[in-house]
Amino acid sequence: MQGTKRRFLIAGNWKMNKTLKETEEFFDMFMSFKKDFGVDVLFCVPFTDLKTALEKTKDSKIKIAAQNCHFEEKGAFTGEISANMLKELGCRYVLLGHSERRQYFNETDLTVNLRLKAALKEGLKAIVCVGETLEQRKDNITDEVIAIQIKTALKDVSKAEIDGVVIAYEPIWAIGTGENATKEQAEDVCKKIRKEIEKLYDSEVAQKTLILYGGSMKPANCEELLKEEDIDGGLIGGASLKSEEFLKIVDVAEKIR
Ligand code: PGA
Repeated sequence: MQGTKRRFLIAGNWKMNKTLKETEEFFDMFMSFKKDFGVDVLFCVPFTDLKTALEKTKDSKIKIAAQNCHFEEKGAFTGEISANMLKELGCRYVLLGHSERRQYFNETDLTVNLRLKAALKEGLKAIVCVGETLEQRKDNITDEVIAIQIKTALKDVSKAEIDGVVIAYEPIWAIGTGENATKEQAEDVCKKIRKEIEKLYDSEVAQKTLILYGGSMKPANCEELLKEEDIDGGLIGGASLKSEEFLKIVDVAEKIR
């Protein structure tokens, strides 16, 4: 929205894509096109690509995020990575509660909350994903589902800490399906998320918090979504894997806000 103080965040989520070599090639290409942006630009990359991505982007404003972190600091949690491991690597951002983590790796609102608190304790900034299934949407319980996800994820997160939290609304039925939510559907839920944050904190916090939309966002549909008042950017999967596509979305965002 024109006039809002919230700065857009255009975030790519590579999921389980790109080897080290592909990561190097991607950033060489991406940064040969553009290094400075009128919006914030971030990539969530696999753990194995973090160090390389951080090194490659160190002279730019691009931010690099991990795609998860565990809630314990250390110990017998084979296969997991802790927030302080990320911090020591120089990684300052982490994606949490993505629906694929919930669907395939049994993550729940409760574990998302634990992971969020662990990340914030280490001073990381987090993007927390929420979203309803198609069945929940059809059953008309989207608002309730989202409210519970938000309330549980933010439980015991203080007003000072919420500053480091971005919410991403990703309707599960829109992820990787090519079928994005309409701008009305996306705005409706993003506005309700802001209301929910206002109830939990206050209107100043609600107005400052970034709320992204994710789910089949691409150059062809990003403009109408990003023009909505309560959508402060995108979490972009498929269209973040090719620099040209992702840059088109960045360009559109720069023109809007
Ligand atoms: P998509 O993925 O853009 O490929 O739908 C979005 C996401 O899962 O974050």
